[in-house]
Formats: sequence, C-alpha cells, structure tokens
Amino acid sequence: MLSFSQFPVPLLFILLSLHCLTCLAANCHVDDESGLLGFKSGITSDPSGILANWKAGTDCCKWSGVSCGDNNRVTSLSLNGQPEKKQILSGTISSSLSKLKKLGSIYLTNLNNLTGTPNFLLALTEIQIVYIENNKLSGHVPASIGNLTQLFALSFLGNRLTGPIPSSIGQLTQLNQLKLGGNLLTGAIPTSLSNLKNLTYLSLEKNQLTGPIPNFFNSLSDLRILTLSYNKFTGNIPVSITSLAPQLRFLEVGHNYLTGKIPDFLGQFRALDTLDLSWNRFSGTVPKTFANLTKIFNLDLSHNLLVDPFPTLFVKGIESLDLSYNNFHLGTIPNWVTASPIIYSLKLAKCGIKIKLDNWKPKTTYFYDYIDLSDNEISGSPIGLLNKTDYLVGFYASGNKLKFDLEKLRIVQALKDLDLSRNMVYGKVPKAISGLNKLNLSSNHLCGQLPATKFGANSFAGNDCLCGPPLPPCKA
Ligand SMILES: *[C@@H]1O[C@H](CO)[C@@H](O)[C@H](O)[C@H]1NC(C)=O
Ligand SMILES: *[C@@H]1O[C@H](CO)[C@@H](O)[C@H](O)[C@H]1NC(C)=O
Ligand SMILES: *[C@@H]1O[C@H](CO)[C@@H](O)[C@H](O)[C@H]1NC(C)=O
Ligand SMILES: *[C@@H]1O[C@H](CO)[C@@H](O)[C@H](O)[C@H]1NC(C)=O
Ligand SMILES: *[C@@H]1O[C@H](CO)[C@@H](O)[C@H](O)[C@H]1NC(C)=O
Ligand SMILES: *[C@@H]1O[C@H](CO)[C@@H](O)[C@H](O)[C@H]1NC(C)=O
Repeated sequence: MLSFSQFPVPLLFILLSLHCLTCLAANCHVDDESGLLGFKSGITSDPSGILANWKAGTDCCKWSGVSCGDNNRVTSLSLNGQPEKKQILSGTISSSLSKLKKLGSIYLTNLNNLTGTPNFLLALTEIQIVYIENNKLSGHVPASIGNLTQLFALSFLGNRLTGPIPSSIGQLTQLNQLKLGGNLLTGAIPTSLSNLKNLTYLSLEKNQLTGPIPNFFNSLSDLRILTLSYNKFTGNIPVSITSLAPQLRFLEVGHNYLTGKIPDFLGQFRALDTLDLSWNRFSGTVPKTFANLTKIFNLDLSHNLLVDPFPTLFVKGIESLDLSYNNFHLGTIPNWVTASPIIYSLKLAKCGIKIKLDNWKPKTTYFYDYIDLSDNEISGSPIGLLNKTDYLVGFYASGNKLKFDLEKLRIVQALKDLDLSRNMVYGKVPKAISGLNKLNLSSNHLCGQLPATKFGANSFAGNDCLCGPPLPPCKA
C-alpha cells in the first residue's frame, strides 16, 4: 500500500491539487439538477425567494434546502415555512422530483399554496422520510405506496388528499410515524396497519373515515400517540387498546359517533397525558378506575351522555378539563380541580354546579386562559375571581344566577370574550368592554347609556333600561 510519504514532494503537491480541482468542479448529478429545476419551474410564486439560488449550471448541492451525500447525489430536500404564516410557495409539485433517485428525505412543510399529487414519490425507492405537511396536495395516497419499504416516517398532514387509506401501507413495516390527519380521506382504517409494529405515532384525525376503530392494537405496542378525532367512526373503543396502557400518552377520539360505556380499562393508562372523548355518544358513568389516571393533564369528556357519579381523581395537577354538556350534577367544582397548581382551562358548562362563586377559592388563578361555567346554578359574583386572573382570555358564565354590579368587574387587557347573558347582572355597562372581541350581556338587569362599541344590539338585548346605539336612543 502506498502512503503519501513515499511520493516526492512535487508529485504530492500535484496529486493534492488535482484532488482539489475535482472537488471544485464537482457538480451535483445531472438528473438531480434537472429534477430540481423541474420542481422550480412548477413554482409560480416564491415571494420570500427561497429558490433564488437554484440556478442551472451551479452546484445544486449548494442550493438552499438541498443536501447531497456520496457521489454528489441529492439525498435531502427541505423547504419549510412557518405554521400560520403567509404563502411561501405557490405552484404545483412537479413530477420531475422523481428524478432524484437517491433522495432519502423530503420536507415540504407549511408552504401553504403548493398543489399537485404525491405520485412522484413512487419512483424514489430509497426514500425514508416524507413530511409534506400543510400544503394543498390532492389526489389519492398512491395505492402502491407500500413499495416504498424504506419509509420510516410518512406525513401528508394538512393537505387535500381524497380516497381511501391504501392497504399497502401495511407493507411499510419500518414506519415509526404515520400522519395522514387533516385531509379528506374516506373509508375504513385498513386492518393491514396492524403490521406496523414499530409505529409510535398514528395520526388520522380530521378526515372522513368511517367504520369501527379496528381491534388491532395488540400488535402496535409501541404506540404513544393515537389521534382519531374529527372523523365518522362508530362503535366503541376496542378492547385491544389496553395493550397500549404502559406507554400511550395521547388518546384523542373526539368528534366521532362512538357509543357505549367508557371502558374501565382506560383507567390503566398510567402514562396518559391527554384523553379526548368529547363530542361522541358515550353513555353511563365515568369508570371509577379513572382515579388511577394520575398523570392526566388534559381531559375532555364534553358533549356526551355521561351521568353521575363522577369519580374522584387523584391527579396532581390538571391543566385543562372539559366536562361540559353531559348529564352531570357535580354540585360543586371538584377539589382536585380547585387544588390544581397548573390549570389554565376549566370548562364545566351544564354540570349542575350550585356554588356561590365568591366562595370558590382556586389554589392558583395565575395560568387561567379560559373559564366556562355556563348553564349552572352559580350565584354571587365573579368580581373577586376576575380580580385575580390577569391572563384570562375568555370568561363564559351565561345562564346562571350571578348578581353583581358590572361596573365593579375588572376587565383585564387579555380578556377577549365575555358572556354573562341570562343572569341578574345590574349597573351600567363600563367603557372597558369596548376592547373585547365578543360580548354578550343580554337578559340581565343592566341600565343606562351604552358606551360606544362595535357590538350589535343582540349583545345587549333583554335588559332593564339600556339605551343609546345600537339600542334605541336614551330619553332626554
Ligand atoms: C395560490 O396559487 C394559485 C395558483 O397556483 C394562485 O392563483 C393564487 O394566487 C395563489 N394564492 C396566494 C394567496 O398566493
Ligand atoms: C409496486 O406496487 C405495484 C402494485 O402494488 C406492483 O404491481 C409493482 O410490482 C410494485 N413495484 C415494485 C418495484 O415493487
Ligand atoms: C423496529 O422494531 C424492531 C423490534 O422492536 C427493532 O429491532 C427495529 O430496530 C425497529 N426498526 C426501526 C426502524 O426502528
Ligand atoms: C388502581 O390501580 C391499582 C393497581 O393496579 C388497583 O389495585 C386499583 O383497584 C385501581 N383503582 C381503581 C379505582 O380502579
Ligand atoms: C383586587 O385586587 C387588589 C390588589 O390585588 C385589591 O386591593 C382589591 O381589594 C381587589 N378587589 C376586589 C374587589 O377583590
Ligand atoms: C347572547 O346570549 C343569548 C342567550 O344566552 C343568545 O341567545 C344570543 O344568541 C347571544 N347573542 C350573541 C350576540 O352572542
């Protein structure tokens, strides 16, 4: 074997410079260059100029968002906008991306106005990671996607894909994450997904999926996040979900047509952080086993047909709780709620609460964003509570027996929504309410001239003697 020390110095110099010449001249593979330029030619608008340095004849490995591996083949394409921001790229994803034969990962996220179909992926047999999120892709998830057996993560979250989830996805046994949420997918969950034994994250929420939730979770024992909300699923929660108990952290099945009793086995989910069963038709009582959900932070059981008694929870700190619109008669706000040091959202509308609000002394009020106590039999005044909730954004207490002088209520800067309709609130309407986004003071005992606001007459209807725009003029 030769080593550098065996060459005379000038030869070594020549060898090194030759090496360096080739490295300077190195350009990305011609197929990759033409594939990427084809992608660029499908883009009709690039206001932030992210493709500005994609120029023919320059090394495409140095183009923004492009990375190369061995042999100067493009291995990664990554163009990402910010969520909730304006359009980054308009246009259509060109099928010429299928020329990037060595592509291992593609990230096209939050570009917002990118159309086209995912079919170009089928030619990329080495692809491992696909995140094409929050764009406007249409068409089907390709039926032969199961050919891309190297896939480790597949996300089409937030597009406009239609048609069924192809059963060939079950061949992608390396898959760790499968995210198809926020599309227009129809049909049932294919049972072949039970082959995805390495899956930790399954997101199918916000589609139009039908049928039962399959009873196939025995084989998906690594699953940590399961989100099936906002679909048309029927039936109950399948018993095989029990096998996820040791590690499942998120279980979201809200906004479906699920029926039956909430299964006792949900109480075994010791790692559960978030449980959303809202907007279904669950009936019967909440299992006593929920006492064991000691790690639960977010619990939403609202809009079901659940009845008393509600079990006592031993959770250390609930962050967000919604039990609204069931058939509960809680009487009081539970102690495990009042005692939470971290709660920010409390929704207990129509929960049969009969307290005097002045007597409710939550351990912490600091984090509260939202409090909804509508449609209970709560008396007294929220003046003390709102005096302590500096960051409250929404306070809803419609349909109670609150009786207080509205002029004494502190309206903090953060507050945007205030609904006190159908109570016994009296006094005048203070100027401070003009900074709110939404206001409802209808059906109370308010009186006097209204301050100038953007709110319509509906917000003030049914009071004793309010006057001035948008209500009829005050009598002189
Ligand atoms: C989105 O793209 C379409 C065509 O590709 C274009 O007509 C439209 O103006 C774009 N919308 C925005 C908000 O840029
Ligand atoms: C890809 O899938 C289709 C349909 O599932 C199949 O006919 C074809 O042989 C597959 N191609 C490869 C290269 O595996
Ligand atoms: C899939 O799971 C198996 C068994 O748990 C493991 O050996 C393998 O490394 C995993 N594959 C990936 C890609 O995580
Ligand atoms: C909580 O879990 C323990 C241990 O698994 C069990 O013995 C107990 O019965 C459970 N409590 C309830 C209320 O289900
Ligand atoms: C509101 O809070 C301030 C200071 O924190 C206190 O002085 C005042 O008495 C409180 N007002 C009411 C009505 O609770
Ligand atoms: C105000 O509340 C009443 C009763 O709670 C409701 O009927 C009305 O639609 C609400 N109006 C507005 C403007 O929200």
